[in-house]
Amino acid sequence: MNILGLNAFHGDASAALLSDGQLIAAVEEERFNRIKHWAGFPALAAKSCLRDIDPASLGHVAISRDPKAHLWRKLGRVVARPGDWTRLVSRARNTIKVANLAESLVTSGVARPDQVRIHHVEHHHAHLASAFFASPFEESAIVSIDGFGDFSSLMWGVGKGNRFDVRGAVRFPHSLGLFYTAFTQFLGFPKYGDEYKMMGLSAYGEPRFVEKVRDVVRASDDQIRLNLDYFVHHSEGVEMSWNDCEPTVGRVYSAKLPEVFGPARVPRSELEQKHSDLAASVQAVLEERYFEILNYVQRETGQKKLCLAGGVALNCVANGMIFEKTPFRDVYIQAASHDAGTSIGAALYVSHQVLKQPRRFVMRHVYYGPEHSESDIRKELDDSGVHYHPLSEEELVDRTARQIADGHIVGWFQGRMEFGPRALGNRSILADPRRHDMKDILNKRIKFREHFRPFCPSVLAEATGEFFETDYPSPFMVQAYRIKLQQRERIPAVTHQDGTGRLQTVEKDVNPLYWKLLRRFGDLTGVPILINTSFNENEPIVNTPKEALDCFLRTNMDVLVIGPFFLHKSENVRHSQNRRALTEA
Ligand SMILES: [Fe+2]
Repeated sequence: MNILGLNAFHGDASAALLSDGQLIAAVEEERFNRIKHWAGFPALAAKSCLRDIDPASLGHVAISRDPKAHLWRKLGRVVARPGDWTRLVSRARNTIKVANLAESLVTSGVARPDQVRIHHVEHHHAHLASAFFASPFEESAIVSIDGFGDFSSLMWGVGKGNRFDVRGAVRFPHSLGLFYTAFTQFLGFPKYGDEYKMMGLSAYGEPRFVEKVRDVVRASDDQIRLNLDYFVHHSEGVEMSWNDCEPTVGRVYSAKLPEVFGPARVPRSELEQKHSDLAASVQAVLEERYFEILNYVQRETGQKKLCLAGGVALNCVANGMIFEKTPFRDVYIQAASHDAGTSIGAALYVSHQVLKQPRRFVMRHVYYGPEHSESDIRKELDDSGVHYHPLSEEELVDRTARQIADGHIVGWFQGRMEFGPRALGNRSILADPRRHDMKDILNKRIKFREHFRPFCPSVLAEATGEFFETDYPSPFMVQAYRIKLQQRERIPAVTHQDGTGRLQTVEKDVNPLYWKLLRRFGDLTGVPILINTSFNENEPIVNTPKEALDCFLRTNMDVLVIGPFFLHKSENVRHSQNRRALTEA
């Protein structure tokens, strides 16, 4: 049985394919059309997912939005605010459009339309399913927490076997995610998905505004309550603009925020200490409310295991403290907790909750994107005329580890592309975490990021406890653990200002080649850890060999390891100069 999941006309549009209960493909549309967070219909992503199956065998399409969900609440809002009618109608039209496009995509010339059943899965049901049904747990508490989706911002329940029951929810206009977005905008980070920047900045501040920030959002039992005096989303609506389908969220905070906290920071203006202090205060209050909710859910369910999804569940700083601040003893966080992951969740929801199929799948990795054969890669390299060396796996691993240990920056392109926001060792830029200056070098030469954003470590799973205070798997880089005091000087380039590292623990059976590279680097240096940042330069993560080669040639990367082929910049100077000249032209 094949089920196609879609997140469409929403930020981070994506597609996922579930086949006989196993996830066999998942990819974001932005990786194909090269527009970050793209929010249209994921036609290319869907085609990529369906490439290896007979389209006639597709029985179900699951869309992670449901215009009928909470319809009475939505209509009640329209009665109170007639201006919202246009927005409601436009969303309903989008949903119908998704269904029509999905149907035509999968049935065009292949099957009769009545062979495919279209399912609308409520947004938070899709988030909950993406966490619990992908987890290894037979039974657990589940929490989905984000900005908004289908009129809710939080939903929680209990999963058991192949179903879950919802026990509570927070409805519009209250939202912990929106609280965080408001301050992210206020601090001069206006783009969709910029919340992680404020999280990075928070480590540089003192939470001296925490009392004032507490007045903006409160939690009681499982309810989040915004002080609506600080917001306009409920009174004026939130304008989402879709320039070239790149989503931008309109201002969500009211004039009261600058009245209380001083003038908003102008984007790209100088960052002052008070900005870091405010970020630290907002992060501290988010954590308070997050753990109040999680502890309530734990008390109500009695569960010791927790599954998490939703955009707020990407707050790795808070996630890193779950064992310290709650009685939960096991946690599974969906790697694509943001809305891209709802394509997987919608498909899993239909498989288990609707069709009552047994669970056969645990999502232990994110390598569900396209793959390129050795011959395709070789053809790309030959066509471009670059100089390269084919190497055996052992030589490839050894030479790459030595290059990194010598301070070189390596582009690493292997296997299937990652799904979700993090590069996890298949489309990664790798560097030496032992060097104090490596963060600045990476920023000056390739990434051009704000100074306060950390670079993150991949660590050999077996060595987690040697370097980190928490020795618990973190395979998706969605938890930040404190680095042991005595180890911080050994890995300064991945030690954030607050002493934490947002780590990826790498297990041998999950990614054997990357594991071997980490082990070899550990053998050479005594530190089985690498800086791992996404393989891109101000663009979505590279997808094809051509994009990887282009990025290598136009940036100041030293080495490209692509499949079994090894390229050194020093042997490709002319190609690099030509590529840069082309970029500048
Ligand atoms: Fe969401």
